Amino acid sequence: MLQNDLFLRALNGESVERPPVWMMRQAGRYLPEFRALRDKYDFFTRCRTPELASEITIQPIDIVGPDAAILFSDILVVPQAMNIEVEMKPGVGPWLPNPIRSAKDVEQVIVPDIHEELGYVLDAIKMTKERLNNRVPLIGFAGSPWTILCYAVQGQGSKSFDMAKGFCFSQPEAAHALLQKITDTTIAYLKEKVKAGVNAVQVFDSWGGMLSPTDYQEFSWKYINQIVEALAPLTKVIVFGKGCWFALNEMSKSKAAALGVDWTCSAQNARYLTGGNITLQGNFDPSRLLSPIPEIKKMVTQMINDFGKDKYVVNLGHGILPNIPVAHAKAFIDAVKEYKAK
Ligand code: CP3
Repeated sequence: MLQNDLFLRALNGESVERPPVWMMRQAGRYLPEFRALRDKYDFFTRCRTPELASEITIQPIDIVGPDAAILFSDILVVPQAMNIEVEMKPGVGPWLPNPIRSAKDVEQVIVPDIHEELGYVLDAIKMTKERLNNRVPLIGFAGSPWTILCYAVQGQGSKSFDMAKGFCFSQPEAAHALLQKITDTTIAYLKEKVKAGVNAVQVFDSWGGMLSPTDYQEFSWKYINQIVEALAPLTKVIVFGKGCWFALNEMSKSKAAALGVDWTCSAQNARYLTGGNITLQGNFDPSRLLSPIPEIKKMVTQMINDFGKDKYVVNLGHGILPNIPVAHAKAFIDAVKEYKAK
């Protein structure tokens, strides 16, 4: 039995004494303990070594105390397993030396056996569950097919993902074939993660907001919804689409247990768009963690009052930034723990 099941109760829509809190990218560079390991081991070594991945996953639980852990890994281990080479260049970020640009390239992409190619993630989950010892639930995750396509085609991070969009609009058949392969792999991958012990899964659609509402339906939501349909009978599914407020209404009609919201959408608007019944997660501007601590605490209380304490998971509106002082991250979490319903 979990000692702290607030997060799962909020995903269930149950009434809680206070909302649960965790932070996207909480296992990361703002922690000196993380940077010490980063200096010793390269990125994918950290992902592939269950001892390291589980240690990094648990660091924020011990240091800042959120109500859920998220497995240290990356959305780009999926394309790697699909025969698409991915490097992580220090100071640059993701780097794919052979990006997908044609139908012929898509043919080379495989739907892998999960145990063969991603068994190390499953081992990391099992070890992390053991080391967490039921303190808090563990979240597993994957990128959305569209967001993975963005990297696979663009070959690196981008402000516009113009080549990824160009590929979809000029070679839609090849794009859909690629999106379907990523979807099939992601469904198999997340199902194995659930078997290995994660308590919920989150789909990150970090670049969904690059698409128009109409294109979003065709190139992103259609595939995310396949994942939601396949996983919802097995676990709680959270969908986070950055910049995707325009799709919240459609998303709220799906089998997702919760929807992530970024800081450009007000709590009131998010509740309105989703019909007021589904659990929402978000949406503190990550840069606002640079405000003085008393101000952070005041803003967190206001945010909880705006969303309401039930059917709500406190989070940032995107990942925590590397320049956030640990004391400010902790103040964010403490403010939620100190919350008293009005
Ligand atoms: O949330 C967590 O703490 C769990 C771990 C996690 C990482 N990446 C570790 C990581 C998660 C959930 C991700 C998801 C991820 N990865 C996303 C979706 C979420 C988002 O932020 O939009 C995306 C788009 C990626 C792709 C990726 N990985 C980028 C763009 C980068 C480089 C830039 C950056 O933000 O750091 C990475 C590298 C990466 N993934 C780091 C970490 C801690 C930093 C690099 C390092 O540790 O050497």
